[in-house]
Amino acid sequence: MQIITEPGQMQTIAEKLRLSRQCIGVVMTMGALHEGHLSLIKLAQQTAGTIILTIFVNPSQFGLNEDLHLYPRPFEKDVALAKAAGVDFLFAPDTESVYPQHYQTTVTCSEVTKMYEGEKRPDHFKGVATIVTKLFNITKPHIAVFGEKDAQQLAVIRRVVEDLNMDIKVIAAPIVREKSGLAVSSRNIYLSIEERDAATILYKGICHAENRVAGHEHNLQTIAEEIEGMINAIPGCRSDYVGFVDEVTFEPAETAESGKEYRLLLAMYSGAVRLIDNVMICA
Ligand code: PAJ
Repeated sequence: MQIITEPGQMQTIAEKLRLSRQCIGVVMTMGALHEGHLSLIKLAQQTAGTIILTIFVNPSQFGLNEDLHLYPRPFEKDVALAKAAGVDFLFAPDTESVYPQHYQTTVTCSEVTKMYEGEKRPDHFKGVATIVTKLFNITKPHIAVFGEKDAQQLAVIRRVVEDLNMDIKVIAAPIVREKSGLAVSSRNIYLSIEERDAATILYKGICHAENRVAGHEHNLQTIAEEIEGMINAIPGCRSDYVGFVDEVTFEPAETAESGKEYRLLLAMYSGAVRLIDNVMICA
């Protein structure tokens, strides 16, 4: 596995790979690699012959009061995990080479970023859309794998790729969960044992929604309110949002039509740690 830190060098390598007819797959991460990230690499390897893994803690997608400086950066461990996973190139640039002096260009996506994460974290998706676009231009992939764990992020990236005519196939990877149902996340290390236990209410909320829809409850607003109640009833937990969107348009949905697919989006705090989760539900 080769480690590259310079965007220009990564581009030259990617161009050579393309000229030698290699199918390039990219997996983008902020590091602190876990089972979720590794599942994305495995999925990319099913389609692409050369895998580029990017590790970059992107400052522009963190809000002023967020955890940019606390964000875990276990680089040596990440290198070992990436090597063991069969990654071919690890692209890990520093902030100055990604956002040099005089940098001033951003990518924004309007409708799909208005609610949920976009509403709670202003400018977050501008930062994501911009860095993902830059990393596409640097790694020149044919395919890119992103996790359903960040469902709204995935929807934003799909929009950017389609709207800007990027010739890249976006592949979605299912959410990897712990036995308790808690979605694996780099931020789970912030949770105390009690907070981690309390956080499993998020998955219980998902199961509740699946059961209610299977039992023919079509009022999605009612189900969302029930889940908010379940979360807020757990000491130390606070719901941030719970809502259903149309799986295709990502527009808020209040009533379910039989046979249609919806996505339930959830965000909550367990103590001071903010967690997100989601599930696709077919009515
Ligand atoms: P990060 O949070 O490191 O996640 C990198 C990728 O791993 C994303 O596509 C995310 O959805 C996926 N992922 C995280 N946890 C997962 C899980 N439990 N199961 C499946 N996939 C999971 O998302 C980002 O970084 C950044 O916003 C990035 C796209 C790299 C841009 O900076």
